[in-house]
Amino acid sequence: MYLNDEAVLKVENLRVGFGEEEKREVVRNISFQIKKGEVLCLVGESGSGKSVTAFSIMQLFHGTTGMILGGKILVNGTNLAELSEKEMQKRRGNEIAMVFQEPMTSLNPVITIGVQMARAMRLHQKLEKQKVREKSIQLLEKVGIKHAEKTLYAYPHEVSGGMRQRIMIAMAMINKPSLLICDEPTSALDVIVQDQIIKLIKSLCVQEEMAVLFITHDMSVVAQIADQIAVMHHGKIVESDEKKRFCFARKMNIQSVLFAMRWLCRKKKMKNRIFYLIKLMNK
Ligand SMILES: Nc1ncnc2c1ncn2[C@@H]1O[C@H](COP(=O)(O)OP(=O)(O)O)[C@@H](O)[C@H]1O
Ligand SMILES: [Mg+2]
Repeated sequence: MYLNDEAVLKVENLRVGFGEEEKREVVRNISFQIKKGEVLCLVGESGSGKSVTAFSIMQLFHGTTGMILGGKILVNGTNLAELSEKEMQKRRGNEIAMVFQEPMTSLNPVITIGVQMARAMRLHQKLEKQKVREKSIQLLEKVGIKHAEKTLYAYPHEVSGGMRQRIMIAMAMINKPSLLICDEPTSALDVIVQDQIIKLIKSLCVQEEMAVLFITHDMSVVAQIADQIAVMHHGKIVESDEKKRFCFARKMNIQSVLFAMRWLCRKKKMKNRIFYLIKLMNK
């Protein structure tokens, strides 16, 4: 889709472990890449290593025994696994940004949204007060918040869960990141709000030409947002493909099971029902 086909994020043979002395490997030799304007959905059951993968890219291991045991995390050609904490600080919230499942864990409940946005902005940019305000309003409008100016004076608990997630996305966009990592950003929201947030992330990904790593365990979310899919199981990527081919392969699998059931069924009524299902699938 884009002239520049170079991957923004390239993860090569990444291994991550936890433990005081002997490390237990929870991410085991995974590789994947994401280009500009593309969403890769990392799916898999709980405990399969999705969040650890995300936190490894951000190098957020403080207070844990987590460590990168091997492999490379290349963001725009730089291997993050080799960088010092100081250099990583320059990149977090700048070149790479992250949106978490529960926005209240990242928002400070006793500080207004405007002040929190201003602080995040000033971490990486030198801007005057008026400019910060204008930029905050623009960002809030960009993520679909109607009363942007009023929202700046609100405290996080005064807005809805969906709004809080929009604010988190706006904050992640402050420094125009080239990589956005979303760890189950919609799991705590109801279905309608979830749908709006997914559409927002997808459109920002295309508009801003970001690479998006989107973590979820919900296949209906994957169907909506993914360009590529990688399935994790016990710390390994067990399947990965473009969404189209992935869904086609799934459909073919279900269809072959249905054909086998039809062949095995003795009852004519049941056979006809299965035949009807096969016909529906091919529509
Ligand atoms: N801070 C930690 N200390 C020790 N083990 C951890 C830590 N965080 C995650 N793990 C382990 O890593 C594995 C993968 O967890 P995680 O990436 O959170 O799974 P999920 O796919 O649900 O996001 C799990 O077995 C979990 O117990
Ligand atoms: Mg997780």
